[in-house]
Amino acid sequence: MSADYTVQGSVAVVTLNNPPVNGLGLETRTAAVNAIRQAESDDAVKAIVILGAGKAFSGGADIREFNSPKALTEPTLHSLIRVVENSSKPTVAAIHAVCMGGGLELALGCNYRVAIPGAQIALPEVKLGLLPGAGGTQRLPRVLGLEMALNMVVSGTPVPSEKLAGTALFDEVFPAETDLLPAAIAFAEKVADVRPLPKVRDRKVDYPNHEAFLQFSRNTVKAMAGPFPAPLECVETVAASVTKPFEEGLKFERERFLHLAQTPESKALRHAFFAERAASKVPDVPSDTPVRGIERAAVVGAGTMGGGIAMNFANAGIPVSILETKQEALDKGLATIRKNYENTVRKGKLTQEKFEQRMGLITGTLAYEDIAQADIVVEAVFEDMGVKEQVFRKLDEVMKQGAILASNTSTLDLDCIASFTKRPQDVIGLHFFSPANVMKLLEIVRGKETGKDVLATALALSRKIKKTGVVSGVCDGFIGNRMLEQYLRQAFFLLEEGALPEQVDAAIEKFGFAMGPFRMSDLAGNDIGWYIRKRRAIESPEIAYSKTADLLCEQGRFGQKTGAGWYDYKAGDRKAYASELVNDMIERHSRDIGVERRAIDDAEIVERLVYALANEGAKILEEGIALRASDIDMVYLTGYGFPLHRGGPMFYADTVGLPNVLDAIRKYASGRHGEAWKPAPLLEQRALEGKGFNG
Ligand code: NAI
Repeated sequence: MSADYTVQGSVAVVTLNNPPVNGLGLETRTAAVNAIRQAESDDAVKAIVILGAGKAFSGGADIREFNSPKALTEPTLHSLIRVVENSSKPTVAAIHAVCMGGGLELALGCNYRVAIPGAQIALPEVKLGLLPGAGGTQRLPRVLGLEMALNMVVSGTPVPSEKLAGTALFDEVFPAETDLLPAAIAFAEKVADVRPLPKVRDRKVDYPNHEAFLQFSRNTVKAMAGPFPAPLECVETVAASVTKPFEEGLKFERERFLHLAQTPESKALRHAFFAERAASKVPDVPSDTPVRGIERAAVVGAGTMGGGIAMNFANAGIPVSILETKQEALDKGLATIRKNYENTVRKGKLTQEKFEQRMGLITGTLAYEDIAQADIVVEAVFEDMGVKEQVFRKLDEVMKQGAILASNTSTLDLDCIASFTKRPQDVIGLHFFSPANVMKLLEIVRGKETGKDVLATALALSRKIKKTGVVSGVCDGFIGNRMLEQYLRQAFFLLEEGALPEQVDAAIEKFGFAMGPFRMSDLAGNDIGWYIRKRRAIESPEIAYSKTADLLCEQGRFGQKTGAGWYDYKAGDRKAYASELVNDMIERHSRDIGVERRAIDDAEIVERLVYALANEGAKILEEGIALRASDIDMVYLTGYGFPLHRGGPMFYADTVGLPNVLDAIRKYASGRHGEAWKPAPLLEQRALEGKGFNG
């Protein structure tokens, strides 16, 4: 049973019971309908209280039912709400903790709503590219008024119940510490004989001059919604609560809901929602795998990454010590951290008290002995195997038994790093992205010998520091940078063939990327790629690269940090200005290598960059470096600015259709530098089977 039925005196209590958040799945809906019917037919019952067991009233639709026919099987959420609304006995929703989406829509179908403070009230459907489809857009304005309801529906942001006390949403918000069930029963007894039964649907939404307000909302929301259609649809359906009679409004809401559910943007958002949850699961590391406690942390290296990594620990309340080789480097690193926090305080996003608390958790040292007792140490020194070796041998010597030894390396072989220690089971890669205190992605690199408990601890840690942890196997560049290399290779070939940096960036930014490859390289530093290409030229001389990027670096144009890169920069201004000098250099290079430049359209640019990602992603998937296609999508959505409304490179390829992607790849394979376009066998296989990467 996923809803329990009891009778206390003259009040029936229907308790939704579907952990963790009483999602309104088919079993719960069926049990709730049966319970209401039972209450109706029980002469001893005069009123009905609907309550949630455990940690929520209800979090809404059961996400396990998404994309399954169960969601549409009777009794649907609509039918349940109708049964509640049409009950001949008064119904009281007793709300605590979480009342969201379908949960709030169910509560709005009740005659009365009571709550305790601290309950999160929301209609968050817009975050999945949808709108509330079970009456929420019609009933919420009837109790909160047009303006407030519109804000809640369009933003999806939760509002605490106490802030809504005094509105018609709640008949009573009890004082804190109230025992909800007895209070709700007492309330139900009080209203048991009141007739007619108040119904939200019978209320009117009064808003003088609503058209002007709605027009203002449309303009504002349109400007903020970007490529997503849902926010504007939310405005239109909420508008229907004023302009249409209730039943017509409901019908309109249903229609717009079904339309949105079919849009690629909503599909992409739902994909990302599930992808994030899936990423935290590793098949051979069950959720009950014991984890190691992380009470104290250490970071080696106080450079660009080390400082940001240390901030993550401090933000989560974990004391962290940073180790450097020289006092000067340490002071510089600590000063950068302080400056970062001060900026956040200045922007009003951190209180002075929290700032001091966090700085108080961060200490610096030059002595390994001072970090020996840390439960985890993250190495972020120069990307050089010799330096890593020195550091890991020392860590092996000094760190207490059971400490996790992590490396932030972005390209080096983690198994080799682990071999410098006598405890490879304790070694793992924690690959943060720059700026490490901001970027959501954490690639968790599982070495050949990494212990399951170490991996489970890293996954738990990623949640604690509010990162999206994605597990990657060991390979050059792991998931993200290995794919990025193919993307950049194409970007550079495009320059040789006829495009210019500003055209490539504009095309891919129009597709939705936060930043095109050339602006991104200028931000990250062009010398990093140069260094990697030099290493590759020795390790894998057979791989062809465009020399254009090397020519750029030979001029010392490393990007923003040197004031010049693919673009020109002006002092104190991060804006990229097209560079005549660079563009001349690119055109000259084409001549030098005997390539006749041609006009390249935006569609080709986007195809070549995005399919290069998907094709390499397929190889990564096939090799087992990534556990699932959606993990690869998560890496790109959270670490590389891939447009959220396109769902990630693998999901996007699925949307285009793998046979179409394969056709395009084969076409490029027969062109210039066709060797870069060897189709991934997995892509060929899935295309043949008529399947996508994501199933
Ligand atoms: P960085 O050059 O800014 O900082 C390295 C720091 O390590 C310097 O402060 C240096 O004094 C210190 N250091 C060097 N040898 C040391 C030793 N033996 N003991 C203690 N400290 C030592 O380098 P960055 O950019 O922070 O990179 C660090 C690591 O993070 C590298 O492995 C890099 O590949 C990786 N990484 C870098 C990213 C980036 O965008 N910069 C992104 C993700 C990973």
